[in-house]
Amino acid sequence: MSRIVHVNGTFLPEEEATISIFDRGFLMSDGVYEVTSVLGGKLIDFPGHCARLARSLRELDMVNPHSDAEWLSLHRELVTRNAVEDGLVYLQVTRGAPPDRDFVFPPEDTPPTVVLFTQSRPGLADAPYAQTGWRVITIPDLRWGRCDIKTVQLLYPSMGKMMAKKAGADDAWMVRDGMVTEGTSNNAYIVKDGRIITRELSHDILHGITRSAVLKCAREVQMSVEERAFSLEEALAADEAFITSASAFVVPVVAIDGAPVGSGQPGGVATRLRALYLEESRAHAM
Ligand code: PDD
Repeated sequence: MSRIVHVNGTFLPEEEATISIFDRGFLMSDGVYEVTSVLGGKLIDFPGHCARLARSLRELDMVNPHSDAEWLSLHRELVTRNAVEDGLVYLQVTRGAPPDRDFVFPPEDTPPTVVLFTQSRPGLADAPYAQTGWRVITIPDLRWGRCDIKTVQLLYPSMGKMMAKKAGADDAWMVRDGMVTEGTSNNAYIVKDGRIITRELSHDILHGITRSAVLKCAREVQMSVEERAFSLEEALAADEAFITSASAFVVPVVAIDGAPVGSGQPGGVATRLRALYLEESRAHAM
């Protein structure tokens, strides 16, 4: 069944949705995006995604085309029109479509391009991989120096996912100077002697909305959290490992580069945090 999508103020069937070939997102990856999950027809962690969108736009000197309230109603309307029970809302804002290709930014009054669409994923929170865990490989982190901005430059993460797939794994963790940065589309964690360790916020990683909510849950139940970089060696010697993202929530990592993490089974901390996070985020869904 065809989806109803949103392009620049209009809701229309996906087959009828078009943007210009001169769009800066298409020609230059000059755009930012957000992915918000939907559970039971409601948006998960929406205020966090809205705040990060505003920050990404600000960091790139782009105007935010909507207020938070307008973004919320666009999201809600798409979820309703497509009868999404569980799934995702994808949102992208680009620097718009000037009349020709040019490295120089177009004038500030060039209207941005705004696209939103839904992806229905029935049973998203009950995905089987939450029980079995993911196997990850490691790859060098070859991305640019502003990974904190959620831009649509996703070629390297996409290549990383393909390298993982070819190696029979589920994802790749990226490593810079011997230290793990993050997964291709998720934040990375290890657990050692009961302590949860995840890289501190900087330009090196995306400031995950799920990361912030999960760390809050962990602290509320007196789990100890260390926000610092960890090495690949530490990860290989960890008791547990896991990832977080808006589309996967919390997923245990059971192997790194073919070596089992801890017992090689999903760990107790990751399993508990997944349950706590899902309960908490559902209670605040909007
Ligand atoms: N990815 N790190 C990277 C590089 C990401 O692309 C993502 C999200 C995260 C987790 O952030 P959050 O918890 O806010 O989803 C970390 C989304 C889900 C995607 O690209 O589909």
